[in-house]
Amino acid sequence: MKRLNKCFLVTAGLAAMLSFGCNNGGSTTATSTPSTGTTSAPTTPEPVAVGTPTVAAAPDAGFDNAKTQKGFADVQKLGKSPVAGDVEATKKGAELFATNCASCHGPGGMGDGPAGMALNPKPRNMTNSADYKYGHGELGIFRTTKYGVEGTGMAGWEGRMTDEECWQVVNFVRTLQKS
Ligand code: HEC
Repeated sequence: MKRLNKCFLVTAGLAAMLSFGCNNGGSTTATSTPSTGTTSAPTTPEPVAVGTPTVAAAPDAGFDNAKTQKGFADVQKLGKSPVAGDVEATKKGAELFATNCASCHGPGGMGDGPAGMALNPKPRNMTNSADYKYGHGELGIFRTTKYGVEGTGMAGWEGRMTDEECWQVVNFVRTLQKS
């Protein structure tokens, strides 16, 4: 603070050459003091910002591909998400995703979580709609989340998450889709 004031006075009151010298002094001081930026650096990955979906998808987009999967008829009857567009639900979904899904799918849904590395097939990269095998709209994601994908590491969350929680996660997964 003291130094800054002095700097200001010198800069304001004297010739440009002197103020240049003062700036130099300032920058050496800055590099020799411990950087607060380093100490406050996050040690865990930043959570993904929660927003609204940027990629449009009908509720049943790609859902027909899940015909042979568990729970298809039940989910089809539901028709649509009860919390579509509800940002509060999306925020809860983000927390549930970080706790339950990021270990395999990665914090940003890229399919790069440490627990997914050894799996075959690999966890889906959720950012690309075209990569979803069983629907990238809300019905498809809900069915996959609740009932899982047979014969893969993607186990259903029925019994571990309520339907309401599954829909919240669906909201969040929809926001991860970039194409
Ligand atoms: C143990 C690792 C693991 C965890 C934890 C996990 N998944 Fe998956 N997930 C997978 C794998 C493996 C696949 C790929 C399945 C396939 O290729 O058919 C997958 C695929 C998916 C898909 C894409 C399905 C499609 O249409 O292609 C969605 C959506 C999904 N998971 C949602 C979730 C959600 C939501 C959670 C958390 C509630 C979660 N997953 C937790 C392993 C995991």
